[in-house]
Amino acid sequence: MRAVVFEEVGRVSVRDVPDPRIERPDDALVRVDVAAICRSDLHFLHGKAPLEPGEPIGHEAMGVVEAVGPRVERFAPGDRVVVAFDIACGRCWFCRRGQTQLCEDFRMLGAGIFGGGLGGAQAEWVRVPFADTNLLGVPDDVDDERALFLGDVLTTGFYGAALSGIRDGDTVAVVGAGPVGFFSLQAALVHGAAQVLALDMQPDRLALAEKVGAVAIDVSERHPQMAVADRTGGRGADVVIEAVGDPSALFTAVDAVRRGGTVTVLGMYTSETVDVPAGVWWARALQIRFGGICPVHAWWDRALAEVRAGRIDPLPIISHRLPLDDAPLGYELFDSRAASKVLLAP
Ligand SMILES: NC(=O)c1ccc[n+]([C@@H]2O[C@H](COP(=O)([O-])OP(=O)(O)OC[C@H]3O[C@@H](n4cnc5c(N)ncnc54)[C@H](O)[C@@H]3O)[C@@H](O)[C@H]2O)c1
Ligand SMILES: [Zn+2]
Ligand SMILES: [Zn+2]
Repeated sequence: MRAVVFEEVGRVSVRDVPDPRIERPDDALVRVDVAAICRSDLHFLHGKAPLEPGEPIGHEAMGVVEAVGPRVERFAPGDRVVVAFDIACGRCWFCRRGQTQLCEDFRMLGAGIFGGGLGGAQAEWVRVPFADTNLLGVPDDVDDERALFLGDVLTTGFYGAALSGIRDGDTVAVVGAGPVGFFSLQAALVHGAAQVLALDMQPDRLALAEKVGAVAIDVSERHPQMAVADRTGGRGADVVIEAVGDPSALFTAVDAVRRGGTVTVLGMYTSETVDVPAGVWWARALQIRFGGICPVHAWWDRALAEVRAGRIDPLPIISHRLPLDDAPLGYELFDSRAASKVLLAP
């Protein structure tokens, strides 16, 4: 089959690779209808996490079940499904508590040996282990493009809002209006926010945020803390969601939150070390919550219900739809930020 593979730092290609097959009784084989390129794929592209040349990549996909192993109970060939980007066992102590990102057997699609050596989802087919846990059935009235992001960025934004204890009438600020921020803004409205503020420095990202009801704050032009204070009676936002994954964004989030408010960190940190003024944060009685990797399995049903009801709209974030063979171009567009989200159709 055709699949996107990592070639070397800065280069991917589309190659013929061996067809995946059912290897274990819990596996499903999914024929991919549409996949997407994610920020995490760029981490691999840039060599921030090691991949071997020829290793398949990609972890955002939806499609149709082609075959299932004998122990799969919830899915059958022909079912439309979204694939979870994080592959969990569904049975261990953490999985049973809904904290599937902390699974004893945690794996990730398209992440090479660190992801457990599973194949990638930017491919014609993908093998999904523990299919009963790692697939979400898609109802007929939700089309492919609306469903796709439930396996990763959409549900991540929903999770971020859900974790934040948003109360009716709250002001929620989101630092970073990329795909994760875009969905966090919409999810904050679903959770009762009266106003949502999008903080970013990229005009196109801010324009997308405005499309879904956010007030745009360009942090290259305005001091973020002042701009948020202006809209909150001088107090700061009740909740700030950090959707960047950079220490400067974390400090912006802490500056923008009110005393006693909540900062939820969705952005990914790997080896960064941050010095924090612990006494100041303590005296301000801040709640700082690290989301970790999103346990999509525990949240995607609720997120799907919001998509179905039209309260979360994934479509505006999609800027490019390309055939799978054009994946190298898709990576270039996404990496240069000329694209807000690139879909690949095998
Ligand atoms: N927790 C999870 O499971 C999970 C899932 C997906 C992505 N992520 C992480 O979430 C983060 C965002 O993902 P994304 O796909 O939206 O990324 P992205 O890079 O497309 O978007 C980030 C946005 O933040 C803006 N930005 C950068 N620095 C900023 C700053 N200091 N202040 C304000 N805005 C700033 C950028 O202009 C960009 O629009 C990444 O760290 C990603 O790895 C986490
Ligand atoms: Zn992703
Ligand atoms: Zn588990």
